Amino acid sequence: MRVLTLSGSPLKKGNTSQLITYLTKQMEKSDIQDLKLTSLSLSGEKISPCKACKKCMETGSCVVKDDFQSIAKKMLKSDLIIIGSPVFFHDVSGQVKNLIDRTYSLWHDRQLKGKKIIPVAVSAASGEDRTLETLRIWAQAHEMKIIRSVSGHGYKKGEVLKDEEARTAAKNALRELMGELQIEE
Ligand SMILES: Cc1cc2nc3c(=O)[nH]c(=O)nc-3n(C[C@H](O)[C@H](O)[C@H](O)COP(=O)(O)O)c2cc1C
Repeated sequence: MRVLTLSGSPLKKGNTSQLITYLTKQMEKSDIQDLKLTSLSLSGEKISPCKACKKCMETGSCVVKDDFQSIAKKMLKSDLIIIGSPVFFHDVSGQVKNLIDRTYSLWHDRQLKGKKIIPVAVSAASGEDRTLETLRIWAQAHEMKIIRSVSGHGYKKGEVLKDEEARTAAKNALRELMGELQIEE
């Protein structure tokens, strides 16, 4: 299974990235067959906002040439996308918002349809529900298969790993994924 992780925090090794890594480490310990992991931090990636030119309606690809192009290729190649965002004012970070808006180019002919997805959100205290809702609505629009959402709390770098509920949520998402894979066999 080809897994792509996308961490949407400006901090490469922040809480979002650390919770995603916790989840993928659990995956590596499990007996998922042919696990191929590609991990990407959106920090430093150039993802401009959608221009709403709607040219993608005809071509199925985005005319804006920046790092979105290679990220889109990676998304299209993956079976499971783990996308995480830090909670910024009760919603996704700007970088994640730019990325999800740019996938409009993949939406017209549902190029992401059927891909599995685990949405992840980390806040200091609150706002993860709304943030996860943004990610879930996006995934549903693309007709992706939402496995289970994961959220946690932390403020300073690494604090999220002290959040037992976050670790449990990650393990539960993995359990759900394993069940899903068994059904597919
Ligand atoms: C611009 C900004 C907005 C934030 N808004 C919220 C918020 O609405 N609710 C909250 O609980 N934490 C908020 N936080 C705190 C972050 O969600 C928290 O520090 C989280 O761990 C960041 O994840 P990261 O380390 O991956 O960047 C905000 C932080 C920043 C920088």
